[in-house]
Amino acid sequence: MSEIQVTQPGMADEPVMLPIEPYVSRDYALAEGEKLWPKVWQPACRVEELPKVGDFVTYDIADESIIVVRSSTENISAYYNVCQHRGRRLTKGCGHTSRFYCTFHGWAWNIDGSNHNVHDREDFGDSLDGVDLSLPEVRVGEWGGWVWINMDPDAEPLEQYLEPAFSMLGRFELDKMRFRWRQWLVFPCNWKTALGAFNESYHVNASHPQLTRGHPPMAWWCRAGGRHGWHGPAGLRGGADSEHAKGLSAARGEAGADPRVAVANDLQMMWETLQATTTETFVKASKRLVDELPEGATMEEVGQHLLLAAKADDAARGVIWPEIEPEHLAVTGIDWHLFPNLIILPSLTTALVYRARPNGNDPDSCIFEVMVLERFPEGEEPQSDWVYEPDPTEEKWRLILAQDFNNMPEVQKGMKSRGFRGARMNPISELPTTHFFRKLAEYMGDEHAPVPVKGE
Ligand code: FES
Ligand SMILES: [Fe+2]
Repeated sequence: MSEIQVTQPGMADEPVMLPIEPYVSRDYALAEGEKLWPKVWQPACRVEELPKVGDFVTYDIADESIIVVRSSTENISAYYNVCQHRGRRLTKGCGHTSRFYCTFHGWAWNIDGSNHNVHDREDFGDSLDGVDLSLPEVRVGEWGGWVWINMDPDAEPLEQYLEPAFSMLGRFELDKMRFRWRQWLVFPCNWKTALGAFNESYHVNASHPQLTRGHPPMAWWCRAGGRHGWHGPAGLRGGADSEHAKGLSAARGEAGADPRVAVANDLQMMWETLQATTTETFVKASKRLVDELPEGATMEEVGQHLLLAAKADDAARGVIWPEIEPEHLAVTGIDWHLFPNLIILPSLTTALVYRARPNGNDPDSCIFEVMVLERFPEGEEPQSDWVYEPDPTEEKWRLILAQDFNNMPEVQKGMKSRGFRGARMNPISELPTTHFFRKLAEYMGDEHAPVPVKGE
């Protein structure tokens, strides 16, 4: 496994500022279309979107478009989405077909990519004899239940590219999860600005005050390995014995926060305001805590009991949890940024996932998708479709995402100010973004790498 960099209280990354150009420049966005997107593995769709032979998804990225299709029971294939006659795009969106038919002049391709028909072929004489008219192929891989594509024929294998996520997240069996809900919109910010709102927990205190109010302040660790960065909780800020932590815990206690009730309330709030990172199984089991545990139960006892109860409830309905020991959970944390454009918040039976893509070459616009995956009893997976929801409000996206959305376009605007000196990253809890920019610079050029800074 590749070397892993760790930041945590007392162990900081080199302080840096991020350059602004990658976020705001059209030239940079164009260069990404040349140097980044054609070189990297990227999640094109979920395998579950292609159940039947002939099911296809059109994956658009920057100026490029790729058809991902179930070409046989066993195989998923990907082709450049371009008619070999005069270049018309062949597909849009997703669907089911036995042929890719070009509506301009009627050329057609089989789903194995071979040419099926050239309209009025005899007009071409023998000039097409022996000529390769098949749709050019794009490499395909599968991991975590996603279909990944890579336009670079010489790219390293997907498993290697994904390390250490491949080894560390494999245990979560993300491939066994299915969509619970999925929603997308076009957002007025750069795709990197969007991802930067979801790969650290430094923002939670200010952006989601309802999540931290009355809780002792948390510290975070971050890790970076391979191209990827992730983070998790590092206990209480200043330690459990700090005056601040004690004060807040006492305040919570005085407010009558019985841990049995507090945990149930927190989960209910999470379900109502995000409908992700927990499941109905947990929410329901947490409501029984007051009946199943004696008064005075500690937070640890409540946590342990809830885990066992939820596991048993799930088992009873046919959802068997993956076996992951606590030590492994402790180092995988809560949030992974997979280079370049996927963020996964994995847990035992659910995952919250964000994908951001550039909207063509516009540096100020991105396609932003949220997908919530869950493990369901076999045969009880709900039918879901992508919902386009352009209104970034609490009413349409629930409170927590609306709070994040509230920052993203304002950051995009603010970064263009003459008064902005560059993003000054937190050397402990914003390592995933800094690491992302270091890796990005390996594709885009060192002139865009994070710049080390020092105090006076
Ligand atoms: S462009 Fe496709 S058939 Fe002419
Ligand atoms: Fe957030």
